[in-house]
Amino acid sequence: MLITALSFTGHPERGHLPHRLPFRFGAGPTRFYSRPMARVFSGIQPTGEVHLGNYLGAIRGWTVNQHHSDAIHCIVDLHALTIPKDPAELRAKTGELMAVLVAAGLDPEVCTLFCQSQVHEHTELGWMMECTAAFGELRRMVQFKDKAERADFVSAGLFTYPALQAADVLLYDTDEVPVGDDQRQHIELARDLAIRFNNRYGDTFVVPEHVIPPVAARVMDLQDPTRKMSKSLDSPQGTVLVLDEPKVVEKKFKRAVTDSENEVRYDPEAKPGVANLLSILAAATDGDPATLAEKYTQYGPLKADCAAAVIELLEPVQERYAELIADPSTTAAHLRLGAEKAQAVAAVTMAKVRDRLGLPAV
Ligand code: AMP
Ligand code: TRP
Repeated sequence: MLITALSFTGHPERGHLPHRLPFRFGAGPTRFYSRPMARVFSGIQPTGEVHLGNYLGAIRGWTVNQHHSDAIHCIVDLHALTIPKDPAELRAKTGELMAVLVAAGLDPEVCTLFCQSQVHEHTELGWMMECTAAFGELRRMVQFKDKAERADFVSAGLFTYPALQAADVLLYDTDEVPVGDDQRQHIELARDLAIRFNNRYGDTFVVPEHVIPPVAARVMDLQDPTRKMSKSLDSPQGTVLVLDEPKVVEKKFKRAVTDSENEVRYDPEAKPGVANLLSILAAATDGDPATLAEKYTQYGPLKADCAAAVIELLEPVQERYAELIADPSTTAAHLRLGAEKAQAVAAVTMAKVRDRLGLPAV
């Protein structure tokens, strides 16, 4: 009773008593789970280049959280197929992303880091989710409408993409999905599908919660500090890549747009460029942007310190990346380990799902 009153989101079949978590992604009211640590699932597409915003805003936090949650990170290469890709490029991007994530500190032994297409249960449950979702529900997805408008070729996969995303999450008895606000509608759908399936066929899935990850830093474009640094913006000079060489990083910071005043203060509204530099410096050095501002009277030294701090931050990641990318067998071993760990969980869910649906066991 008490557990219900505290909004226990865990699965009754697991039968364990919930424990309080030491640290969680979500900032909302404390929830209780059936495991000592919340199971957290996130997916990332192997497209574009990983930039400083991804690193400071997401990846660095994941490396910390892997020690406080049961974290599963998935490179969603099947989702990337919804828009036709060059096979060699997809292969390279998947390897690069895996190497960046490991180089940044995601430990394949600590968390589960894997590639979606290597765990066939995703496509299997994806189909079942397509049969659970209504056509009208998928038609309402804002991301589909956006992407379909821009695509030359609108694949059926682009339309059913959220059903596969629901399968990703539901396969792992996921408690929390820390993704940006743009994904809220997809996670709401995953919840609706879990509830509908549970109602039709009996308790099967944990109903996941969408949590907005705490923003360690919101990194803005160096050339247009009113827009978020992004993979999709065509702003190579405003986007610092995790793999940019030190000289390139220096140049990008040197050319960063500030303003025509000459006063360093932390004022994101009036001085977005300077505030962005101070925020980056603060995130990179574990400082506070307003306090850091007091140390500077001119923009030049602030830009130079910012570049130096980012270079220092990225240096070990780049070193480790260079080792990993030169050694594809290690990345392949990481992928195998991740797929094995993921499949051990996914296979149990699928056996249950098949049974619930009246399909023969395999
Ligand atoms: P995306 O590049 O949009 O696939 O995002 C991958 C992750 O990086 C998500 O968790 C985003 O919230 C985060 N992210 C992307 N761009 C930024 C940014 N400019 N500042 C902070 N976090 C970001
Ligand atoms: N759709 C997500 C994005 O575009 C990626 C994704 C696929 C995902 N499967 C997921 C995110 C499962 C969270 C959980 O960013």
